[in-house]
Amino acid sequence: MKKIVLDTYQDVCCAAADIYAAQLKTKPNSVLGLATGSTPIGLYEELARRYEAKEIDFSKARSFNLDEYYPIEKSHQQSYDYFMHDNFFSKVNLSKHDIPNGEAKDAIAECKRYDEEIAAAGGIDLMLLGIGHNGHIGFNEPSVSYSMGTYLTELTESSITANARFFGKNEVQPTRALTMGIGEIFRSRQIVLIISGEGKAPIAKKLLEGVIHTDVPACFLLLHPNTTVFLDKAAASLC
Ligand code: GLP
Repeated sequence: MKKIVLDTYQDVCCAAADIYAAQLKTKPNSVLGLATGSTPIGLYEELARRYEAKEIDFSKARSFNLDEYYPIEKSHQQSYDYFMHDNFFSKVNLSKHDIPNGEAKDAIAECKRYDEEIAAAGGIDLMLLGIGHNGHIGFNEPSVSYSMGTYLTELTESSITANARFFGKNEVQPTRALTMGIGEIFRSRQIVLIISGEGKAPIAKKLLEGVIHTDVPACFLLLHPNTTVFLDKAAASLC
């Protein structure tokens, strides 16, 4: 795992955008893994800026998002489907994008469909990740066992609390999600993990001390051959 510490969140987003630009230049029809949460927003803004400036082209690429709440309507403002359209898909020319369907009647069938689509696309070339305060990636929560493929998972209190800030007082917040499994993430040929802000400093420290804590899902990335972690100074302050 390669660790890169940069001064600011903006620097981190630019550096991650450089990796996307290089990937698409080398392989215009890349399969991109995309993430939600507040952390990637700056990266999506930077990629949209570069697209406007004609510096990057997504026309031949396609994408798969990591996860989605379940159940949730796509039109719900807190669905990851809505988030991705709002923050990214509406701003660039990436027309082939897929997200686990939070409206699916049969969650198990939806997980199977998703894995089959990823496999048919040839697997993920470049996967983007954020990290939860408890070390989750996607919605792979700390556990004693980890799934290979996409699955329906129960969210932990920690993740429900962390994401409660996005839901209105009277809105029902989902307690389950569909997420790519650790195996699916791990099969990505390249992974970029972004960690920002002092709130993430404790989990960044735990991840980067080089010990595989099996109750910190992100620690599996320590074994991945091509993962880069970008941290801003605040996130790296305890490292
Ligand atoms: C969410 C997402 C993750 C994301 C994490 C951190 O629950 N499922 O993919 O990395 O939380 O979010 P944030 O960047 O807002 O801290």
